[in-house]
Amino acid sequence: MAYKDVYEGWKNDPEGFWMDAAQAIDWDEAPKQALFDKGENLYEWFADAKVNTCWNAVDRHVEAGRGEQTAIIYDSPITHTKREISYVELRNRVANLAGALRAKGIEKGDRVIIYMPMIPEALEAMLACARLGAVHSVVFGGFASNELAVRIDDAKPKAIIAASCGLEPGRVVHYKPLLDGAIDLSEHKPDFCVIFQREQEVAELTPGRDVNWHGFQYGVEPAECVPVEGNHPAYILYTSGTTGQPKGVIRHTAGQLVALNWTMKNLYNVEPGDVFWAASDVGWVVGHSYICYGPLIHGNTTIVFEGKPVGTPDAGTFWRVISEHNVKSFFTAPTAFRAVKREDPTGEYVKKYDLSCLKQVYLAGERADPDTIVWAQEQLQVPVVDHWWQTETGWSIAANPIGIEELPIKLGSPTVPMPGYQVEILDDAGHPVEAGTLGAIAIKLPLPPGTLPTLWNAEERFKKSYLNTFPGYYETGDAGMMDEDGYVYIMARTDDVINVAGHRLSTGGMEEVLAGHPDVAECAVIGVTDQLKGQMPVGFLCLNAGTDRDHADVVKEVVKLVREKIGPVAAFKLAVVVDRLPKTRSGKILRGTMVNIADSTPYKMPATIDDPAILDEIKEALQTIGYAKG
Ligand code: COA
Ligand code: AMP
Repeated sequence: MAYKDVYEGWKNDPEGFWMDAAQAIDWDEAPKQALFDKGENLYEWFADAKVNTCWNAVDRHVEAGRGEQTAIIYDSPITHTKREISYVELRNRVANLAGALRAKGIEKGDRVIIYMPMIPEALEAMLACARLGAVHSVVFGGFASNELAVRIDDAKPKAIIAASCGLEPGRVVHYKPLLDGAIDLSEHKPDFCVIFQREQEVAELTPGRDVNWHGFQYGVEPAECVPVEGNHPAYILYTSGTTGQPKGVIRHTAGQLVALNWTMKNLYNVEPGDVFWAASDVGWVVGHSYICYGPLIHGNTTIVFEGKPVGTPDAGTFWRVISEHNVKSFFTAPTAFRAVKREDPTGEYVKKYDLSCLKQVYLAGERADPDTIVWAQEQLQVPVVDHWWQTETGWSIAANPIGIEELPIKLGSPTVPMPGYQVEILDDAGHPVEAGTLGAIAIKLPLPPGTLPTLWNAEERFKKSYLNTFPGYYETGDAGMMDEDGYVYIMARTDDVINVAGHRLSTGGMEEVLAGHPDVAECAVIGVTDQLKGQMPVGFLCLNAGTDRDHADVVKEVVKLVREKIGPVAAFKLAVVVDRLPKTRSGKILRGTMVNIADSTPYKMPATIDDPAILDEIKEALQTIGYAKG
């Protein structure tokens, strides 16, 4: 069948399409209806069903005789460890962990925060929650205490599961003090914390609050899978929005099972038993959907990789892992390939490995620049697929569905909309524009299964952020266009979100931190173009009148402050002190124009600018840190 037929098939009978896809899931009570319209443009999928995610991701494969198949390969060049966990072992480990959590009072609907590095125990913790119907919220290890505290106060977890430490090249990330700091800062306190002690750093446990991962499982009754309603939240994943308050994206249980399972063959072209590797982190949506749930639900082998594309130990790491573990489909971020390409432009490391197992490569998380795609195609000699999605959608909005039909690749485009997504480009008034015209990218409601039904405890914010601008549509926050052949092009964000090394960050959140410095009167943060990371944040600081501090000292202090408040992942290293910020006459900071100046790209003088001379001052300031050279 051709993509066109599949897409048309969905369009003609969306509910029938998803009911068919639902047959691949093991239901406790099968859905009788696919879509539930809750009014006010809110929708849910398979709400009348009963099902358990862990059963579908783990137990059912054991029951079906695949127990000896490897479920998880742990490959950690940082600790020089390799380990395999079969489906039957995974079932036993997860059932025990879930049993121990249950014995400590965790039940269906309770929230559990998971703060762990890339180790198999992170997946086991997620699956143990799923087994009980508890709602997990994984927090990325590169976030600092304050960010963790914000999530604790919003999710109100009964328990937190953490590791004693994470390992970055040349640096141990002390998780336990970060966790303790977060619990000190938060108003809500968890009943208990489970600490997985890593041998690289054993943490001191807080008596009465912390239990040891192994110790608390001793002698417990393993837990069975608890069936939950199809619209029961499987997890909350916080993502950056316009302000420092992250958005709690919810994923419903049944929709996620059906949609992710569908993507494994149709998009990623793997059969059960094949090895699938997403080199991301469990703290991001890619890690949820394609390190943990998607491959396991589909009966694949997944890889938990604790390392970096370069430096652990070299630019050949990706190729070693692919070749050694027989990876068929590989998923990473363009920035990771740019890092490899920078160290090994001619692919000397590629030549060292037999990569005949690799059939296709997928890129997402940020715009894939044509140079990087062409380089990867030439080196690897397989299709390199750019695909576009968001934390909110949980799976691809636009992609090249290689498992259905390999469509011609057009550089700069993540190809075509997937079934479930009616993508339209709208002008400011909400009218569809012609092919080739730029506009806001919107998706006609309802969104397909597996996407966000709302935000955690924030339905009004959900409506305001996504539904109100274009009635009847979901607003993606991305701008771009579609061509005559229906290919989608993603050009920019329409909000203050930037994308640094495939990590989604809020410039508004960073501005809130800078504004908290006692000498800063006013500030702005923009994302400037960076050859490696795609974008890098740059801060502009106007100091309080009368402040005679050395500018370099203030810059150092704000850099430290962002690292402390948001975390190293913000990669906030550059800031300049300026007298004034360019604004419109109504007082809106002209961030877009500042980006153009930094990147030396042409721009039109904004008609509403208050004082054009300020732009020269901005340019001079940027030149002192190596930007605006052109
Ligand atoms: N825990 C703690 N700290 C972390 C972390 C984690 N899980 N992940 C990153 N950090 C830290 C890094 O150590 C670094 O700290 P530093 O300022 O002390 O050096 C900082 O956060 C910035 O990290 P990063 O942006 O990743 O830059 P880098 O220079 O360490 O590495 C790349 C550059 C391109 C190799 C790396 O960004 C990369 O692999 N990117 C791919 C991202 C990805 O897969 N995203 C998923 C979306 S699909
Ligand atoms: P996240 O929620 O972290 O996955 O980030 C989602 C955002 O990353 C999207 O809204 C886009 O701005 C950007 N993005 C993700 N994938 C792509 C892609 N393939 N091409 C261009 N931008 C992308």
